[in-house]
Amino acid sequence: MAARAMNETARFPLAALIAMLIVLLIGGCTGQAEDPPLKGAAMGGPFELTGPDGRRVNSEQFNGRYRLVYFGFTFCPDVCPTDLQATGAALRRFEESDPARAERVQPIFITVDPGRDTPEVMGRYAANFHPRILGLTGTEEEIGNVARRHGIFFTRGQPDAQGNYNVDHAAYTVLYGLEGEPIAMATSEQGMNGIYDMLDRWVR
Ligand code: NI
Repeated sequence: MAARAMNETARFPLAALIAMLIVLLIGGCTGQAEDPPLKGAAMGGPFELTGPDGRRVNSEQFNGRYRLVYFGFTFCPDVCPTDLQATGAALRRFEESDPARAERVQPIFITVDPGRDTPEVMGRYAANFHPRILGLTGTEEEIGNVARRHGIFFTRGQPDAQGNYNVDHAAYTVLYGLEGEPIAMATSEQGMNGIYDMLDRWVR
């Protein structure tokens, strides 16, 4: 009796484990049940900033498209150019592999240094990396608000004798969905492949 009971309890966890594995395998293969990593995150929201031609850009105009959003500044010595290069390369690769889906992605570069990054400077700089990257700037207050709401923290350093200063900032490339909802993000370390995989995985 005692031996039989032990046997039953020993068998049950194994059966449960096998059932769980089957569920995991099916889920892993179809991938249908998987939620976007940033689903429900309190990031993003509407904004109004200034485009390269000096005209105001309202985030509503991106509804129905995906936004690939990166915050940085044009005087950034290394991280921003590297990340934007990765974005440009990932976009070009996506445009080649799937032009229809790539067209639904609006890449956006928002400055955290509006004092130096005028609309014209932003336009010229962004175009170096990909012709479709939209460079946006605004007032100090607008930039502070839009960065905070997108979960981007930045700190301006003390100017040196020549008046140059650095801006420390979070460097994430974040994909937002058709209604501006956060979907997924890529870190600097993930590079071009990280951004490409994110686009290929989530853009429909
Ligand atoms: Ni930077």
